[in-house]
Amino acid sequence: MGAIISRFARRFLPKTEVRILMVGLDASGKTTILYKLKLGEIVLTVPTIGFNVETVVYKNISFTVWDVGGQQKIRHLWRHYFQSAHGLIFVVDSNDRRRILEARNELHCILSHIELKDAILLVFANKQDVPDAMPVSEVADKLGLPTLKQRHWYIQSSSATSGRGLYEGLDWLSNNISNKAA
Ligand code: GTP
Ligand code: MG
Repeated sequence: MGAIISRFARRFLPKTEVRILMVGLDASGKTTILYKLKLGEIVLTVPTIGFNVETVVYKNISFTVWDVGGQQKIRHLWRHYFQSAHGLIFVVDSNDRRRILEARNELHCILSHIELKDAILLVFANKQDVPDAMPVSEVADKLGLPTLKQRHWYIQSSSATSGRGLYEGLDWLSNNISNKAA
């Protein structure tokens, strides 16, 4: 009964609008995540030069997700998307051991920007379907997440190609962002 009432109430409550910036190294799976959430499908991606933006409505929250290309030569453009982001999604290829420290450096560099000081952080430890992928705990350690004392963060295991973990990530965002965005 309670569930029926809350579903009914949710239909009539105004939607909370939140702005999410999604970054991470090139080929970590950002665009695949975006369109899996938006369309429920795997799209054939090419490296993003610039950005993609889509709105995903989930649990009465309208997430406007900005997926910005991660190639090294265009990472300096990320800062143009920082302003007014309520949340940051940082996507990591859990199978890319060679570049995990590069990912860590980029993450810590982004988080040092004043415009993002209040943004909550969701990390997708993506490509968990790859057999030799680093476990989530190792990704968290190598990214230095436990050292982030002033940041509200969460790491979610995901596989963008199967969709596993993506909605769990949105659940965490929706449970933790709504007060900030209201
Ligand atoms: P840039 O636009 O260059 O920043 O890259 P991106 O982060 O948007 O990566 P993209 O989504 O284009 O994915 C790169 C490649 O990784 C594609 O071939 C995807 O199919 C593949 N990929 C993405 N997510 C996963 C995953 O969870 N598992 C596996 N096995 N492959 C994935
Ligand atoms: Mg892309």
